[in-house]
This record gives sequence, C-alpha cells and structure tokens, in this order.
Amino acid sequence: SNPSILILPGDGIGPEVMAEVRKVITWFGDKRDIQFDVSEDLVGGAAYDAHGTPLHDDTMAKAQAVDAVLLGAVGGPKYDVLDFSVKPERGLLRLRKEMDLFSNLRPAQCFDALADFSSLKKDVVAGLDIMIVRELTSGIYFGEPRGIIEEGNERVGINTQRYTESEIERVARSAFELAMRRDKKLCSMEKANVMESGILWREVVTEVSKDYPEVELSHMYADAGAMQLCRWPKQFDVIVTDNLFGDLLSDAAAMLTGSLGMLPSASLGAPMDNGRPKAMYEPVHGSAPDIAGEGKANPIACILSFAMALRYSFDLGDEATRLESAINTVLEKGVRTADLLGEEGVTPVSTSGMGDAIIVALDES
Ligand code: NAI
Ligand code: MG
Repeated sequence: SNPSILILPGDGIGPEVMAEVRKVITWFGDKRDIQFDVSEDLVGGAAYDAHGTPLHDDTMAKAQAVDAVLLGAVGGPKYDVLDFSVKPERGLLRLRKEMDLFSNLRPAQCFDALADFSSLKKDVVAGLDIMIVRELTSGIYFGEPRGIIEEGNERVGINTQRYTESEIERVARSAFELAMRRDKKLCSMEKANVMESGILWREVVTEVSKDYPEVELSHMYADAGAMQLCRWPKQFDVIVTDNLFGDLLSDAAAMLTGSLGMLPSASLGAPMDNGRPKAMYEPVHGSAPDIAGEGKANPIACILSFAMALRYSFDLGDEATRLESAINTVLEKGVRTADLLGEEGVTPVSTSGMGDAIIVALDES
C-alpha cells in the first residue's frame, strides 16, 4: 500500500499554506508517480469549533496510525479566552506527547536567492545549511519538582532540569543518524561546566559516538555555541542539544536565514513496525491571524516541511532536493510573497501564486 499522510491544516493561515502543499503532493503523484494515501482532519481551534476539543480522540488515533503527520498551524485571537485545557495549542502538545516525538529537527538553511535578505553579512549566511536537533519531551520544561512555593517570607519559582541516560541516548542516536546522512559532523552543546545534566549529557553522547565512528563529534558549551552560531555558523553541520538550549539556539539560528515564512521543522519519535519513525512535520510559524484570509502567507515553510517528510519519513531524499531546488529557482526569479520583499519595485505574489510558481519550476526540473 502507499505511504500514508495525515494532513491537519489547523487555523488561520494553516489551511491556506496547506492548500499549496496539496498541489505539490498532487504533482508528485501525477508527474513522478509517487503516490500517497492522504487523509485530512481537524486540529486546534477548528477542532474545538467542531467537537469542543482541540484534538478529537479519533484524530489522535489516525495520527498514531499514519506514516507522517503534516500540520499547518493552530491558534488565533478567537480562542484566547478558552480554558487552558481546550486551548488550540493543547492539540499540538497532545500530538507531540502521545506520539512521543522526542527529536525536533530545525534546519537553518539559507537559499542562495535570499542571501541578501538576511540581517547578517552575506558571506556569513550564503550557502548555510545546518540542522539543530533539539530534545523535545524532557528537560527543564517537564522536570519535577516544579511550581511556585512559599519559603520563609517570599515565594520561590522552581523548575528542575532532569535527563535520564535513555532520554539522552535516543536523541543523540537520532542526531548521529542524521549526521551520517549529511556531512558526518556533529556538535553536542550543553553546559557540563556548571550542570550535572550537562556532564551526563556529554558522557552519554560520547558513549553513543562509539557506534558512529565515521562521525566527527565535538562538544561545546551552549553559551559559546550561541556565539559561534552568530560568528561563523558554517562551521557546524548537525548540532544536538537539550530542550531549553535547543529552544533558544534554534530560534536564533533560524533568524540567520531570514523570514519565519521559510522555516520548516520535523519532530521524530521511535521507529514504527515498518521502520519509519513516528513523525510530524510543521512550519515553525504560527497561524498569523494578522494576515489570515488575505492570501498573503508564504507557503514555503510548509512546503519545505513536506520536503523534510519526503527525506526523513519516505527515504525520498532526491525528490526532497528536487523540491528545494525548485523553491530556490522560484526565489531566484524574484517571485516573492510579501514577507520576503526587500527590493523596491517588486510586486508580491499571493500564497497560491507562490505555490503555482513552485509547480512550474518542478515541471521544468
Ligand atoms: P506567528 O508565527 O503566527 O506570526 C508572527 C508574524 O510573522 C506575524 O506578523 C505573521 O504575519 C508573520 N508570519 C508568520 N508566518 C508567516 C508566513 N507563512 N508568511 C508570511 N508571514 C508570516 O506568531 P504569533 O503572531 O506570535 O502567533 C499567532 C497565533 O499562532 C497565536 O495564536 C499563537 O499561539 C499561534 N502559534 C502557533 C504555533 C503553531 O501552531 N506551531 C507556533 C507559534 C504561534
Ligand atoms: Mg521557541
């Protein structure tokens, strides 16, 4: 049977950008004879409106059963007043938690055509292609004890950084596997100089590296890593780090490359029976209520998320590269959505205009 994809467009610009991914999926079916069984369901505010919950149990079950989930974005001002337990983002968190998606892949990739668009010097970012692997399900955001307690005559806010060996090992392994498919260079970032979890992190990563003798492993303190990421990011290929540092480092690295509308992500879990990892792919951006419904959203982040699915869920790395090249071609021709406008005198294309241009470039590839 064909590989299966569950599309969860979500809210705001989610459905708008997902419509362009649909065109790309159709193109791969028609022109490359790569067929997927695609189903679609509700998540976030859209699911709340229909079912009174941001993720219906049936949808959760479908997500567990497919080869890959593609998610648009969730949330919007309409839902800000809802109780925390039914907020749109709870749908997203439930997916991540129940699918146990512990390895979050955030590429920072600079398309040649956009090297001038970055806020950094052109030679620092041109040709940049790095991947940050962030541990997503443990660490200080989840560790116990936590809370705000009374101590003496004041309050204390408490969070606990906590990592088990197996939690470190599985994310390290996913980073080494990734490095093997790329430039075979992995940098692990922690703060072993001041944190116990950092000491254990470094030990376990070093232990795992014995299974990957071809990968050149280095270690860096995360603060120094932040500095090096800004100074000369091209020294890195894959970076693996914990949940907190990964949150900060991946957001910072993302901005090396320009717009939020360009950033994809993947969240991977343990292998399923068919050998494919549990997986969810989604753009980094949110539902962008300020531009929703206006046809202004850049669909590239979502299309690049599908390219990641081709590469990491379906072993179609060449097709992923074909898609990424088509996107670069389109950008090189000066086709831009409004978020990418820099030069004067360029008229932006709409969301669907960008999708159509990418299809034309795929036809010509
Ligand atoms: P946002 O990412 O939705 O928007 C931030 C800014 O970037 C806005 O000005 C928006 O117009 C622009 N932008 C975002 N994506 C774009 C695209 N594809 N093309 C062109 N411009 C784009 O973040 P914000 O405004 O903080 O949050 C809006 C809603 O989205 C909130 O309800 C928030 O909770 C939710 N959200 C959801 C996420 C998710 O589903 N993973 C992630 C972040 C926020
Ligand atoms: Mg963040």
